[in-house]
Amino acid sequence: MPETNNVDYSTKIPNNVGLSDDRRVLKALEQWHPGYIDWWMSRGPAGFQTSQVYLRTAVSIDPKGWAKFDYVRMPEYRWGILLAPRQEDRRVNFGTHKGEQAWQEVPGEYRAMLRRLIVVQGDTEPASVEQQRHLGKTAPSLYDMRNLFQVNVEEGRHLWAMVYLLHKYFGKDGREEAEELLARQSGDADKPRMLGAFNEATPDWLSFFMFTYFTDRDGKMQLESLAQSGFDPLSRTCRFMLTEEAHHMFVGETGVGRTIERTCEAIKVAGIEDPTDIAAVRRLGVIDLPTLQKKANLHFALSLDLFGSEMSTNAANYYSSGLKGRFQETRIEDDHRLTSASYPVSKLVDGKVKLVDEPALTAINMRLRDDYVADCAKGVERWNKVIEKAGVNFRLKLPHVAFHRQIGEFASVKASPEGDVVSHAEWAEKKDQWLPSKADGDFIEGLMQPCWERGKFASWISAPKIGIDNRPGDFEYVKIHQA
Ligand SMILES: [Fe+2]
Ligand SMILES: [Fe+2]
Repeated sequence: MPETNNVDYSTKIPNNVGLSDDRRVLKALEQWHPGYIDWWMSRGPAGFQTSQVYLRTAVSIDPKGWAKFDYVRMPEYRWGILLAPRQEDRRVNFGTHKGEQAWQEVPGEYRAMLRRLIVVQGDTEPASVEQQRHLGKTAPSLYDMRNLFQVNVEEGRHLWAMVYLLHKYFGKDGREEAEELLARQSGDADKPRMLGAFNEATPDWLSFFMFTYFTDRDGKMQLESLAQSGFDPLSRTCRFMLTEEAHHMFVGETGVGRTIERTCEAIKVAGIEDPTDIAAVRRLGVIDLPTLQKKANLHFALSLDLFGSEMSTNAANYYSSGLKGRFQETRIEDDHRLTSASYPVSKLVDGKVKLVDEPALTAINMRLRDDYVADCAKGVERWNKVIEKAGVNFRLKLPHVAFHRQIGEFASVKASPEGDVVSHAEWAEKKDQWLPSKADGDFIEGLMQPCWERGKFASWISAPKIGIDNRPGDFEYVKIHQA
């Protein structure tokens, strides 16, 4: 069977890339498969591997076929779409090769760079599954539990998609990299995941929602710029992954939104005038808004670090080579080569944050980060609408990009959420007002009591407006079976 729209389930590795005619790659993936299953069973969702989960599976790339819902045990979830359809006469759309036919094979001179891009992206996919491994046990509802597991199986599928590219196009070193993707582990002292945010703990559901809002959105931006790649198979893989990433961010945005909604409702019912009266709000069994702000501060800052240094020759090389573009590259009106353009970069000048014009080519990361910040801000506004509608006097806001950074221009200083550089003494004094403290974490952890009754929700979160696949409120999204 050649490349196709529908998934071919006749081979052991379900796929839409004609593996039945590509014995070498089929065999390589069959050899990788047991390691993947081991990884999924030992580091994937703990305690629910035999439960029936109402999951969406893509069985075809047609709009009708990529959202087929049914009960599935997670280890039996099938991930068959490995590439989005090929676009006629696709070109390299930026860099020095602009205008050439898009590459169907890896250009020899860019092999190492391409492999690196695929491995870094690939490493994030299993990492988040590992980070979220224990959350099922404290799920605030069956609806939320199902969403968590949907995100998890799709991150597993993204791993498959990246591993397919490694096996198909990178021979022996591709196989070795694919093994390494299963060998590294989130938070491990000896073999950690490659990027910082993917080694942080995701200890509670608010962290999960913030992670899917802020960190999966970094994923979206990276996939968007890789979807522009002149290497066509990478572009096609990322395009299909983006359809799923949208749901991950939906889970994050609505998860935080429903938390806010429940908090505001409780504040109103109790007649609390001051939403910053943390003790009074917490007594209601909901998460106070100042703590939500601190969680947002943390996850935003961790996610900004994923964009790398503002100025980067690697990013410039990826761009000039036609491997990784900008967000919505083809919609930007410029020469798409950037040999003489400039771009404003936020920098520290005499202890103050200022915008400085720099060569646009080396400022590629900065530009992608700006697009990311703008995208993040939209959802924060929607959260503020929820607060406003409830009649509570409070606003959430994104902290300044200089706040709590470990990478890039601001890694060397301490800055307030407003972007003022502060002394170490001031930082130490105010840190717990700006970032979640141990006590905040303990409070949230205490709220995380499982709520697995059909149609019921934990004290701290509202029910969603509509169910997944339009199911009614008391739908049994997960038939729990604990082995
Ligand atoms: Fe992903
Ligand atoms: Fe994701």
